Amino acid sequence: MKISMAVAAAAFYLALGIILVNFTGQCDAALQVGFYNRKCNTRNVEGIVFSVVERRMNEKKGIGAALIRLHFHDCFVKGCDASILLDGDSSEKNATANQSVGGYEVIDEAKGLLEEACEGVVSCADIIAIAARDAVQLSGGGRYDVQTGRRDGIESLASNVDLPSPSSSVPQSADAFKKKGISLEDMVLLLGGHTIGFTHCSFIEDRLYNFGGSGEADPTMDPSLVEQLKVVCPKNSEADAAVSLDRNLASTFIFDNSFFNQTKHRRGVLPIDQALALDPSTTNMVDNLATSNDFPARFGQAMVKLGAVEVLTGQRGEIRKSCRAVVKNKPRSPFSLFG
Ligand code: HEM
Repeated sequence: MKISMAVAAAAFYLALGIILVNFTGQCDAALQVGFYNRKCNTRNVEGIVFSVVERRMNEKKGIGAALIRLHFHDCFVKGCDASILLDGDSSEKNATANQSVGGYEVIDEAKGLLEEACEGVVSCADIIAIAARDAVQLSGGGRYDVQTGRRDGIESLASNVDLPSPSSSVPQSADAFKKKGISLEDMVLLLGGHTIGFTHCSFIEDRLYNFGGSGEADPTMDPSLVEQLKVVCPKNSEADAAVSLDRNLASTFIFDNSFFNQTKHRRGVLPIDQALALDPSTTNMVDNLATSNDFPARFGQAMVKLGAVEVLTGQRGEIRKSCRAVVKNKPRSPFSLFG
């Protein structure tokens, strides 16, 4: 009799626990590798994203860099919740710092295919994270396991966009990353993302022509690079041309450690890139990364940490139907404490 009462009590508390856990949404709150395994009928969610990214990169190589940057710009504003994808006059994508961000149409295409394969299952935030990983791999940076299980945010405001500036010092940038739980070492690795892709002349004009109001070029830039860049970026030119961030031009689209090698030789393009090689807190790291071949693997680990910044999981957030619009603006209720 005593035993059956104990069993009944245990069953009661177990059931209560399950109800509470489901109610609060804390049960499956962690990101995990393979979150979508067997959740999308028989379809391979990551494989579907990969095939879209692969085809788009074959059409236009530069889209890979755009996808990696998209992930960073998403994660740094309200966490990796795809808030950058929401359309709207004053949404994040319209903030000045996001003007040259691209890759949206790649995410839209992957989302469309995933909705056909399994409606309402895969979040836009996860599609961005998977696409960024695929872009690294397809650029030669190796494959890392991407964690999934993020859900999509329902708010996107340009006024929330507060990204570090390319002319910030290393300590200022480190502070911005620290606020997101990312260490100095991981910041250096992540800035190695600038080993592919481009920047526009408007970001470097002062380094070429009027550094710190001096009327001269930045003395920390290799003079031969100054001359090279002045040709592509003439003074006061209307056309805001694009230049490779990695000055080993054979490696513009290749995910390798050449960016660190270039910055070490004073050939960093953005002020923050050059500062990494010169600041006492990061110069040794840059030296190591410039000469070792473990950068791509370490970059992957840092991307996993970036991808975990302030994520929504469990019952929080929602799964959008289209990555450009929220499903519903949930009314706040006394039960929304956790979501
Ligand atoms: C202090 C932090 C950072 C600053 C100030 C910064 C700034 C910039 C700027 C100014 C550009 C050029 C934009 C343009 O001219 O259109 C750029 C491009 C890029 N950034 Fe960053 N960035 C930072 C961190 C990161 C991180 C953490 C990643 C990746 C994990 C990243 C990946 C990229 C990529 C791949 C591009 C090239 C984009 C393209 O070609 O479309 N950046 N970044």
